Amino acid sequence: MSEVQIYRNQWAMVTGASAGLGAEFSRQLADKGANLVLVARREDRLRTLAEELTAKGVKTHIIIADLAKPEAPDAIWHDLQAASIKPDILINNAGFGLAGGFNKSDWPAHRDFIELMVTSYVHLAHKLFGDMMARGYGRIINVASVAGLVPAGPGHTLYGASKAFLISFSESLNAEGRNKNVHCCAVCPGFTLSEFHDVNGTRDAINKLPSFMMMEAPPVIAGGLRAMEKGKAVYVPGLVYKTITALAGMLPRNLMQSLSAKQLQKARKV
Ligand SMILES: NC(=O)c1ccc[n+]([C@@H]2O[C@H](COP(=O)([O-])OP(=O)(O)OC[C@H]3O[C@@H](n4cnc5c(N)ncnc54)[C@H](OP(=O)(O)O)[C@@H]3O)[C@@H](O)[C@H]2O)c1
Repeated sequence: MSEVQIYRNQWAMVTGASAGLGAEFSRQLADKGANLVLVARREDRLRTLAEELTAKGVKTHIIIADLAKPEAPDAIWHDLQAASIKPDILINNAGFGLAGGFNKSDWPAHRDFIELMVTSYVHLAHKLFGDMMARGYGRIINVASVAGLVPAGPGHTLYGASKAFLISFSESLNAEGRNKNVHCCAVCPGFTLSEFHDVNGTRDAINKLPSFMMMEAPPVIAGGLRAMEKGKAVYVPGLVYKTITALAGMLPRNLMQSLSAKQLQKARKV
């Protein structure tokens, strides 16, 4: 193991660990010595990843959970208690995109989306934050998106709203934890290679974007972990997306909204 073992003997819990950014978070945290609680619905994927991480010399614990179900965070909490695991690090990452215009999805689909993308993040943080504050150590990442920092376009209607919520939530939690060595960071990637766009059926459109707009997971995650360690509340990976989000903060919102709507039309279903 060549990485500095700054999380040696700590436990990190990663939701959505069976693919994409969550699997990469798990690998990089294991390289830094952390034991991993891996959470997702696909057990076979989690078992394969757990074997890979165990070979790096860390412990793993698997929890199969559908985080769109309101009872899932409580069930995860009971599982952790039964295994005597108190996570020092929480990576709230599980997610997907609900493609199409607002009324193309029925209410149960929107309700499940909000449950997974907003409520499960807040509920899991609520379960662990008190312990972290009492202990005087804790690290939380909420995986948000550039979509939460720029005006929203048509389609995928609740996606930007859910990510904007997580950014504001992370800022507040980070401010509350600052004096107790409890950091909370909203990591806000732009388009990043993972299974995300296969799952939501937008891969063909995404493949037409200029290549400079597509990032790879390893630098996104490495930057996110560094930002969390430094106590940053919000982190945007990559120069391209840093520039876009800086412009979004400077240009009039109406102008930014029409620019963003035009760009997103290429990548989103309405
Ligand atoms: N890729 C991008 O361009 C991009 C950009 C900005 C932000 N993000 C954010 O990054 C996060 C991770 O996405 P990704 O790109 O890594 O996508 P991904 O490769 O599709 O992985 C998504 C993960 O979330 C899990 N998941 C989905 N629904 C779940 C549910 N109901 N319960 C529990 N786990 C669930 C999946 O596991 P199972 O299917 O096994 O449950 C999988 O492990 C998401 O929050 C996404 O919004 C992605």
